[in-house]
Amino acid sequence: MRVLSGIQPSGRLHLGNYFGAIQQFLKLQDEGAECFYFLANYHALTTIRDKQQLEDLTLHLAAGYLALGVDPTHSVFFLQSDVPQVTELCWFLNTVCPVSLMEKAHSYKDKLAKGFKANMGLFDYPVLQAADIIVYDSNIVPVGQDQKQHIEMTRDLAIKFNQAWGQDVLVVPEPRIVESVAVVPGIDGQKMSKSYNNTIEIFQTAKQTKKQCAKIITDSTPMEDPKDPEKCNVFALLRLVASPEELAEIEEKYRTGGYGYGHAKAQLADMINELFDADRQRYETLINDPDTVWDILREGGKKAREVAEATMQRVREVTGTYRTH
Ligand code: ADP
Ligand code: TRP
Repeated sequence: MRVLSGIQPSGRLHLGNYFGAIQQFLKLQDEGAECFYFLANYHALTTIRDKQQLEDLTLHLAAGYLALGVDPTHSVFFLQSDVPQVTELCWFLNTVCPVSLMEKAHSYKDKLAKGFKANMGLFDYPVLQAADIIVYDSNIVPVGQDQKQHIEMTRDLAIKFNQAWGQDVLVVPEPRIVESVAVVPGIDGQKMSKSYNNTIEIFQTAKQTKKQCAKIITDSTPMEDPKDPEKCNVFALLRLVASPEELAEIEEKYRTGGYGYGHAKAQLADMINELFDADRQRYETLINDPDTVWDILREGGKKAREVAEATMQRVREVTGTYRTH
């Protein structure tokens, strides 16, 4: 079973990324699946037009993934742009992709609604994502709920390609979405996302974490009154980081009263800080040694290219397009 997932280097890692995506990546890696994880820097180009910013974010993400436990001796960890076969496959998929399918993409419609100019890169984003997945013959794609549509489109395109050339050349992948943590709320209660400016970052100091937690929006129930944990943004985040016993204890305190939102926020910050303490130390070491990080990505790129090239040979063969070198 081959697992693949990608993440755009377009912002700093936050709890939504961790609980919605990365935690699954690590679990699959630990279960012994053959994992391919990559940084989608071509996708990030649809929104980032600053060389330094893209480089910094790429390094941050790579160091972050490695610090959190992506192990390059078990998983192929690489940069999207190190595998030119991906853009090659994207073209083949474009030729079987109805324009109407892309017009339905939520991500595209959302970007337009936010005022982004429609360029072909933004429009074609799901096809490039499909190529990312298909070029490695991926079976399982672990992602957050918001990526479900993109994976459905990927399946559509693989099936359309196979039908067009009458052969099962491309593997049709399946999404893997953990429903229980499908959407991690941000400090304002909306989906946590870098574009909403409502994140709690993973790699920051304990003090900064306390500050971000202190900003979580709650209602104005006084300290001494009982509170409903189900309606509280702090509690929703506590659910992710507290043990079942700790959570039961906190829930009891909410319902009894005499326990304020300030207390809950402080406990949440302490738990987040404890959870990521060792990862933060590893991150500091890696971010101060960028050459090691780039080397790891380069090595991963070599392995990824080999697999991608084998797929492309099948694609070129079945379509009658050949490369002679
Ligand atoms: P952002 O929303 O901050 O731009 P990305 O789109 O880069 O995050 O997401 C990277 C990965 O993390 C994706 O697989 C996405 O589904 C997951 N993810 C991001 N935010 C959340 C969230 N709030 N809850 C669950 N998963 C999330
Ligand atoms: N679109 C994904 C996101 O924003 C990133 C991505 C690009 C991806 N290619 C992928 C995810 C392939 C899974 C598989 O999160």
